[in-house]
Amino acid sequence: MTLPPKPPARPGKVSLWTYARLFRQDILSAQPARLYHAWMAEFRTPFFRSYMCNDPKLVDLVLKERPDDFPKSDRIREGLAPLLGNSVFVTNGETWKRQRRIIDPAFEGGRLRDTFPAMWDAGVAAVERLRARADGTPIEIEAETSEAAADVIFRTLFSIPIEHETASGVFKVFKAHQRAQPVLNLGAVLPLPKWFPRFHSRETKRTAREIRALITQLTAQRMTEIEAGTAPDDLATKIMTTRDPQTGHTFDTGEMVDQVAIFFLAGHETSASALAWSLYLLALYPEWQEQVAEEAAAVIDPDKIYFSTLKKLKITRDVFREALRLYPPVPMMVREATKCEHLRDREVKPGSQIVLSPWHQQRHERIWERPDDFDPGRFETENGKFGLRTAYMPFSAGARVCTGSGFAMAEGPLLLALLVQAFRFETVPGRAAMPVAHLTVRGKDGIWLRLTPRA
Ligand code: HEM
Repeated sequence: MTLPPKPPARPGKVSLWTYARLFRQDILSAQPARLYHAWMAEFRTPFFRSYMCNDPKLVDLVLKERPDDFPKSDRIREGLAPLLGNSVFVTNGETWKRQRRIIDPAFEGGRLRDTFPAMWDAGVAAVERLRARADGTPIEIEAETSEAAADVIFRTLFSIPIEHETASGVFKVFKAHQRAQPVLNLGAVLPLPKWFPRFHSRETKRTAREIRALITQLTAQRMTEIEAGTAPDDLATKIMTTRDPQTGHTFDTGEMVDQVAIFFLAGHETSASALAWSLYLLALYPEWQEQVAEEAAAVIDPDKIYFSTLKKLKITRDVFREALRLYPPVPMMVREATKCEHLRDREVKPGSQIVLSPWHQQRHERIWERPDDFDPGRFETENGKFGLRTAYMPFSAGARVCTGSGFAMAEGPLLLALLVQAFRFETVPGRAAMPVAHLTVRGKDGIWLRLTPRA
């Protein structure tokens, strides 16, 4: 059976500078194959040490048991500062805790039910956009899923579709921003000392300013609507009217702009990547695609939007889960040790980097049977359930787990079902996809598919 594409590992030992060069091209193929079966690995640089932890016990220690001792490194904040300011994604300590107390209620289960119809509308709109192009001509599907995921964010957050002038403005400028700074968090993992200056190009700063100006317009307008009592009941209103239970404060417009920027960035890039890989996998494995199509036809009633539909999309959810296992949109996360630590049999000094890698954990040869196979049925097996419990973290874990994990697990299967119900997806000869990790796991030369209508 053909395996889903996996980047080749780098050959054996290389010098630091070769590593840096490979790393710049792609974080995944810069790593050696031994990381797929090691519990822990050490990378030495002249400036600091970096430790990849694959042992589930170590991952739990860092993410769940003592997260305050392993904060996000300042390098991440520096890399993302022009766009994100002081958003929840980059803050630490008390500021981060206060931000999560205000944001989390908006993403709880009950609210998700209220958000669901807007997700559905975005899915239907994506089907309509693609219908005109579903004539078998190759389509770069990441661009489409990116637009669909951005549409979901704008509809759920601000009750506006992607065609809205400001929403399409943000989406357009964001593409330019990515071109200006394609490897956003490279600075976070590159072996450079802390004192090394990090430059943001003029274009990066300009596009970040432009995106923030557009988001400020939306946020300021919403503040006025809230004050006038005319605001729609969506995520933005919920977040902007939630008081921190400890201090009684709400976000001011500036702080809300930082949060909206991260919801847009974290919420659309990741979901777009997961959806594109899911569709590619279904094109590679048509027998699974047929099962998803049958399930969608049996479960989805185009005239009735029920939240309970989601529970019935079992096969679709397992396909999406398996895509997140093989192609976790956030392939690696970085934390910093603040104290001397003894991890397995290594002494880890303060300032060392701790790298947690969903990419390697979720393909770990000592945890998963047939780790590189695409098999959504695995989650029904003992091994699959064990893997889910111990080595599955596409949304990270612990206190800093992705705020939008429930949201994404509703959006992903729903959009997948709506798309596969409408179209048959096929691979394009000569255009096989190969994953590379930039900000998220993307296709090296895009992800190309051919679409034809089902009905
Ligand atoms: C398939 C989709 C998604 C994946 C795989 C994903 C994955 C992740 C991961 C791994 C992190 C932790 C990063 C780290 O600790 O370094 C994270 C954080 C975050 N995600 Fe997501 N995410 C997804 C969708 C979303 C959506 C839809 C939203 C919001 C609408 C969102 C909002 C956030 C926020 C705000 C954080 C920062 C949380 C914190 O640091 O406290 N994500 N996400």
